Amino acid sequence: MSEPLSWLVTGATGQLGTDLQAVLAGEDVTALGRAELDLTDETQVRSAVRRWLEGASGRPVLVNAAAYTAVDAAETDEATAEVVNGAAPGWLAQELAGRGRLVHVSTDYVFDGTATRPYAVDDDPAPRTAYGRTKLAGERAVAAAGGDAVVVRTAWVYAAHGSNFVRTMLRLEAERDTVSVVADQTGSPTWSADLARGLVQAAASGVTGLLHATNSGATTWHGLARAVFELSGADQERVLPTTTDAFPRPAHRPAYSVLDPASWTAAGLPALPPWQESLRACLADLGALLPDPPVGS
Ligand SMILES: NC(=O)c1ccc[n+]([C@@H]2O[C@H](COP(=O)([O-])OP(=O)(O)OC[C@H]3O[C@@H](n4cnc5c(N)ncnc54)[C@H](OP(=O)(O)O)[C@@H]3O)[C@@H](O)[C@H]2O)c1
Repeated sequence: MSEPLSWLVTGATGQLGTDLQAVLAGEDVTALGRAELDLTDETQVRSAVRRWLEGASGRPVLVNAAAYTAVDAAETDEATAEVVNGAAPGWLAQELAGRGRLVHVSTDYVFDGTATRPYAVDDDPAPRTAYGRTKLAGERAVAAAGGDAVVVRTAWVYAAHGSNFVRTMLRLEAERDTVSVVADQTGSPTWSADLARGLVQAAASGVTGLLHATNSGATTWHGLARAVFELSGADQERVLPTTTDAFPRPAHRPAYSVLDPASWTAAGLPALPPWQESLRACLADLGALLPDPPVGS
């Protein structure tokens, strides 16, 4: 019989933090949002983790779903992003070293986005944004602590809750005749619920080091928007292609963000489903999926 686990989820109010709690329902879970565990406060972080470790009845596993994820804001607030994304994962890893297991989440933004084939875990990172630099610092801080840890990079995360591209497209579909969406950035849309399930599997396995986990397949933001329109019963021709250059943003956006899952599957972890299948499931959760026509109609 497998050993019981005691879970701590940080970033409990975020997309992933919320879905992790759903996946872990019925387990021994402590879920802390920013109000209970603020990653800018080293003393609070260390004492919260120690307190939780002392009270854990099973093998302790901490999943760090908290991050400074405002990619554009980070360009002018890199110092805060550096503490939350860069330093705090190291504090968590140090507190856990020799006592428990850490699952930390990172991002495709550690790469420069110029590749023409999926990024492997050992490809050289070359972040072009403050967010990417700080997340890379976090990966390195976790590795430097030398404990039982796995770092999972993901990309293009959306959920049935929170603020994300899929929900924005559903809103814009209701508000506008047409929507212009960039067609020159390619990635793998990833449903937070699938990622949460995958992270729990990675946590329960003994795998350590660096992994990539996204839904399988790839598309552009334009392709994703068209799929949201089509699956929710709207005319996908209302989604017009545009370019990254036409939408200047403070932070550089990678042209290509596809992550190679080879290390994930080599670790014996089940591949996440194709992105289209998961988008359909998320839209069904939102009550936004157009029902299939009856057979024979
Ligand atoms: N979203 C994506 O497309 C994407 C892509 C690649 C990788 N990732 C990574 O995936 C992980 C989960 O992201 P997500 O999509 O779930 O992001 P999210 O919805 O923005 O959630 C992030 C959570 O972190 C919390 N947080 C921010 N600053 C904090 C602080 N100082 N102390 C404690 N908590 C703080 C936020 O709290 P508040 O709600 O109070 O702000 C929020 O609950 C992150 O590591 C992220 O870098 C995300």
